[in-house]
Formats: sequence, structure tokens, C-alpha cells
Amino acid sequence: MNNWTYRKSVTAHDELAEHHRLARTLSWPHLVALGVGAIVGTGILTLIGVGAGKAGPAVILSFAIAGLICACAALAYAEVATMIPASGSAYTYSYVVFGELIAWIIGWSLILEYSLVVSAVAVGWSGYVSGFMASLGWALPQAWIAGPHAGGVLNLPAILIIGLVAAMLMAGTRESATLNAILVLVKMAALALFILIALPHFQASNFEPFMPFGFPRSGPSGSEVGVMAAAAIIFFAFYGFDAIATAAEEAKNPGRDLSIGIVGSMVVCVAIYMAVAAAAIGALAYTRFADSPEPLALILREIGSGWGAQLLGASAVIALPTVILAFFYGQSRIFFTMARDGLLPQGLARVSRRGSPVRITLFTAAVVAVIAGLFPLDEIAALANAGTLAAFVAVCAAMLVLRRRNPGAERKFRAPAAFVIGPLGMLGCLYLFWSLPAQTRWYFLLWNLIGLVVYLLWAQRQAARSRATA
Ligand code: ALA
Repeated sequence: MNNWTYRKSVTAHDELAEHHRLARTLSWPHLVALGVGAIVGTGILTLIGVGAGKAGPAVILSFAIAGLICACAALAYAEVATMIPASGSAYTYSYVVFGELIAWIIGWSLILEYSLVVSAVAVGWSGYVSGFMASLGWALPQAWIAGPHAGGVLNLPAILIIGLVAAMLMAGTRESATLNAILVLVKMAALALFILIALPHFQASNFEPFMPFGFPRSGPSGSEVGVMAAAAIIFFAFYGFDAIATAAEEAKNPGRDLSIGIVGSMVVCVAIYMAVAAAAIGALAYTRFADSPEPLALILREIGSGWGAQLLGASAVIALPTVILAFFYGQSRIFFTMARDGLLPQGLARVSRRGSPVRITLFTAAVVAVIAGLFPLDEIAALANAGTLAAFVAVCAAMLVLRRRNPGAERKFRAPAAFVIGPLGMLGCLYLFWSLPAQTRWYFLLWNLIGLVVYLLWAQRQAARSRATA
């Protein structure tokens, strides 16, 4: 078998033992909290403005479409994750199901996804922290709260929060279930507060025209607008549920709890997001908040609720760093797993005594901080989405291949109507990918071309060597 098609086996995987030691303590409310905790972040708080700028009031449809596609992928994810409960998520599933080359491409895409989500959420955090400070009378100079694209020099708050979270990770901080539960409540309360304050200002006329930029990617002179272009960006708001799937082994009754956990957190998020979007658009003409770095706070201020805007801003400032932590940690796990397979330099993934890979954390922090400091949120999020979409296509395909290849294998969780959900998830993700800005698709291609060169010239030989000496 050549390197490209070499498939990893997980039956004797060391991590299985580790997972089996975990106590089965979680039931579905915990899993819903875990999912919502990792999912709700910059997507709903900030990208809602970007989405509204692309789709107009029909951004509500964009939320529904992106949520539906994500839900299909989430179900496939749950089935495959419970069959292959090893770290590395879509990268490892691809290694087991498709072989090394596809695994490399997916791993390389996941590195892009996790890194850029860290940058994007840091930029979102910066928007809310700057607005919050300004509302207290301590406005930060524009030059230091935005990159050159918005007339600034460097987005310093974004860099600062990345440094802080990296330091926490290196000190051995892990997500804690209790803190997560508290922050989920903070986020939910903030969004509920937004809806309660904004709803009395609802004006149906703000919804007209409903779809000013059409449905597909149809903008003039190549500028990507329309409901699907918005959905391709809004997609960012829905992912992060890997958290639930990877907790499969800790679920009391995975078959039931996991399906409720995943479907539940998706349904909760779709419902809340659509309610927030409806309240936002109803309260203020979308053109007035489309470009804001803190659209929800701006809306509250514009309708006369300064204290509401402050509370919302404070909640965002407190709660967003957990999303950064979750993805930063995920990034180091992917990197660590790929390095252990010999596909990335093992020295970089070495773990310190505190149990965190210090070098890779520092390296990642430096790269994502530069990106967050200089680039606009929508471009960063779009590229993160491209990486995620590639991983979701692979996971949906892996579920279908495993159903054919191992029909009798034990499945702790079976996705309902797999042969509908799987293709729907794949096609939906491909359509969203196609709806991303052309520039994003080129960047993604370029990233993978670089990846392929690294694989062909270095990684495949290293991996083969590490197998030979194992
Ligand atoms: N879904 C996460 C967010 O919106 C990545 O921040």
C-alpha cells in the first residue's frame, strides 16, 4: 500500500484506553450546555452585521440555511465520532476511512479553521471591548483598535486577548464544565436581554425590501452578495459542536444523550439566532449596523438603551474568551495528533510538564495575533469557514463510507436517515463553499497547494519513517 492510501487503525489506539477511563457523568443538559458554550460567539454577536450587509433583512433566511446544513454535518459528526473516539476529529476520521493523503488535506484545513477562528473571535472581542470602553468614557484611539483596512494601524485588543488566552493555555488551563455553564448563562441572558429590549422597537417596514441582493451569489462586478453569500459567512456562527461529539465517551447514554445534545444545541442556536436577527432588523434599518464592529450593542444604543448596550458588551467581553480557548486548545490537539503520526515536526508538539504543547501554542499565538491585528473580520471568518466546510464534507462522506464498509459495526449513535442527511450535508457544504468570496476560495486553494507541497516533499516520508520505527 502506498503512503497516500495508508489507513490508520484505531482499534488499539492508546486514546481509547484513556477515553474508557472517563466516567460517564454527562447527560443531555450538560451536552447542550457544552455545545451552546462553544457555538455562541462572534458569529451572532458581530457577523450578523456582515451578513445583513450582504443579504439585507433576508439574513434571517441565511441563518436558517446555514443552521440546517450545519445540523446535517453535526449528526454525521456524532455518528463517526462515537465510532472513532480518538483525538484529531475530522483529521483522524479521514485517516481511518480514506487514507493518509485525504487525512493530510483535512488536517491542514483544520489547522486553518482552528487558527483563524481564534483570530476572528479575537477581532470580534476587540469590537465589543472597544465599544464597552468608549461607553464608559475611555475611548481607545482608532489607530489601535482596527487594522489598516478600517483606517487603523493595528488591532491591539485582539492581539492582547490572544496573548492572554495563550498564556492561560500554557499554564495548563482547560475548559471547566462549571465555568462553561456559567458563561453559557451569561451569553444566553445577554441575547435574551437584547431581544427583550429590541422587540418593542420592532418596525415591519425595516424588513422591506426583504431580499434586496437576491438569493444566490449574484452581485454586480463580482462583489459577492445575496442570501447564500451571507449564509456562507453566517455559517461561522454554527460550528464548535465538536465539543459535544468529543464528549461522547462521557455521556451516560450516548445514543440518546448525544442526539439530544447535538440536535438540541443546534435547534437552540438556530431559534435564538433567528430571534436575535429578527429583533435586530426590526429595531434598526440593517444599513445602519451592517459595518459595525459591535452591531448588537450599537442597535441597543441607537434605540436609546445605553445600559442594555453596556450589559451586552460586558457579557461579550467576559464570555467570548472561552470560545477562543476552545478553538486554541482544539488547534493544539490537531497539531499534536498530526505530529504524533509523523506528519508534522514532533519537536513542535512536545508537551510541557503542565500538559500543554508550549512551542506550538507560542507559534500559533504569534501567527493568529498578526492575522487578528491586521485583517478584517469578514475575510478571516470566510477563510475559517472554508477550512471547516472541507472538514464537514469529509465527515459526511466518512459516515456514508463506513455505513457501506462496516454496516454491522457497533454504532453508539446512528444518524437518522443517514443516506439523506449525509448527501444533504455534503452538497450543502459544497454550495456554501461556492458561495464564499472568490478571493477566499483562492486563498483556500493556495493554502492546500502549500500543504500538498509540504506533504509530498516532507510529511509523507516522515510519516512512513515513523511507522517503520514504531
Ligand atoms: N461559532 C463560533 C462563533 O460564533 C465559532 O464564535
